[in-house]
Amino acid sequence: MRHFIVVAILIILSSFLVYAGISAAHLLPIEASLQSIPIDWLFRIEFVAISFLFSLIFVPLVYSLIVFRRRSGDTSDGQHIEGDTRLEILWTVIPLFTVMGLAYIGAQNLSAIRRVDPDAMEAKVTAFQWAWKFDYPNSGVSSNELHLVVDRQVDLSMTSSDVIHSFWVPEFRVKQDLVPGIVTDYRITPNLIGNYKVRCAEMCGTSHAYMEAPVIVQSQADFDAWIKTQQEANAAAEASGIPDASRGQRIYETSGCRACHSIDGSPLVGPTWKGLWGSEVMLEDGGTIKADEKYITESIKNPAAKIVKGFAPGMPQFNFTDLQIADLVEYIKTLK
Ligand code: CUA
Repeated sequence: MRHFIVVAILIILSSFLVYAGISAAHLLPIEASLQSIPIDWLFRIEFVAISFLFSLIFVPLVYSLIVFRRRSGDTSDGQHIEGDTRLEILWTVIPLFTVMGLAYIGAQNLSAIRRVDPDAMEAKVTAFQWAWKFDYPNSGVSSNELHLVVDRQVDLSMTSSDVIHSFWVPEFRVKQDLVPGIVTDYRITPNLIGNYKVRCAEMCGTSHAYMEAPVIVQSQADFDAWIKTQQEANAAAEASGIPDASRGQRIYETSGCRACHSIDGSPLVGPTWKGLWGSEVMLEDGGTIKADEKYITESIKNPAAKIVKGFAPGMPQFNFTDLQIADLVEYIKTLK
């Protein structure tokens, strides 16, 4: 009986120590969404269970090794023990109810996380190898940065233009796949102003590890101001009608071009843009072509038309306007 009491006290003590250790390790990033609160609560329950189960196995093991070790000169057999029905019932019933309880809490948690707010802001997310594009259909703004309003739910309709990607902002906790051909739904209510990062959490090719984009959670006023700036820039471009290299640079940076085309000569998935303008491009079919306006325009509109030697066809179709393509050409001209 004395052994049982000592071991029980040691198990409780060890559980507290292990849980304190797990907590001190700060395994979870900061909570930046309403949905992260119930998720972290569930995580903490699991941490308590893990600490207890670890101690329940480890403490009796170590205790037995030390207290019941074989003394020198003792060559007798160990005590022979047959099964114990009470014990077997106990260690079947307790885990059964524990797991059922966790399933119940998990289901409740899931419904809390997926609660739909009818006033949610809407935005679209498109993933492609290897970048993110965010569209705000109500204001006609597109960006490679995701801007969100603090304390306001956002409903992201997500899809992919090539392979499966996964939208993951660790501080928001919730994660959702983007699948070509279907639209998936992701709801989140950011509740902490700050700058975060969306990462791709599904292995999607060579640059998977670099598939990141900024996520900015800001006040409604700051968000409105950002939308207005974007709209004004778009309107100014349309009004002038004259191709412009700096606008081309913005398209390069925000529409995903830079994921595959470098501007410093380094090789990526696609040919570099440095020194491209006016050069003689070697093609896969053995021919060459001068990189002029006609060739670059065709390569953007119909990427498979001419494949550069040493590269595989695979560039996605972009729906650029003629002016946007002209802007890109102007930008490429500056990359000597
Ligand atoms: Cu996209 Cu990994």
